[in-house]
Amino acid sequence: MKDIRPWVQETLRERLPKEGIGVDFTMGNGNDTLYMAGLVESGHIYAFDVQKQACETTTQLLEKHGVLDKVSVILDSHSNMDKYVGDQMIDVGVFNLGYLPRSDKSITTQYETTKEALDKALERLKIGGVIIMVIYPGHDEGAREAQLLYDFCKTLDRHIYNVLLYQFINKNNPPHIIAIEKYKTVINKRVGSPV
Ligand SMILES: C[S@@+](CC[C@H](N)C(=O)[O-])C[C@H]1O[C@@H](n2cnc3c(N)ncnc32)[C@H](O)[C@@H]1O
Repeated sequence: MKDIRPWVQETLRERLPKEGIGVDFTMGNGNDTLYMAGLVESGHIYAFDVQKQACETTTQLLEKHGVLDKVSVILDSHSNMDKYVGDQMIDVGVFNLGYLPRSDKSITTQYETTKEALDKALERLKIGGVIIMVIYPGHDEGAREAQLLYDFCKTLDRHIYNVLLYQFINKNNPPHIIAIEKYKTVINKRVGSPV
């Protein structure tokens, strides 16, 4: 069985075409950003983080691999993604939630801003596109965020979205994935409202 990271990478590879648009909502050290930048040719990646250090580390990593021109490295909250992505439709989005390991644990993702970003991402998600959230319930805010995201995702309209929970259930509070695939679009319908 695939562990979390290989599962994420395989899904990104399947869903992000060479001309596609990807969003890394939590760039951190830039590993997912770099992976997505390696998948696109004429496409583009938008990467967000609220920490200057994350943007600097990621910029260096992308420069080293010669793919900086494929990425917009953005020092801002992912909840402002609309200011940068505009009305462009996206193929994939990745949230790697929580805090950066070996960094300031108080700078962690919060449900309210994550949810705002998720709403904006779903509005812009192409048919066949996927939003992947890697969730870490092993700390207090992580447990709260995990529960609230799970509650919200369960309400997503089943006629528009497939929502997958990928989790090893015999481990203690392991990170797990919620992935949302859009398979149909409905005009003038608010995300999450029942049909
Ligand atoms: C688990 S780390 C991401 C790890 C990253 N994917 C990597 O490959 O290194 C979570 C990141 O989310 C960032 N973050 C927290 N709140 C945020 C927000 N509102 N908008 C964007 N990034 C945020 C943190 O600064 C942290 O770098």
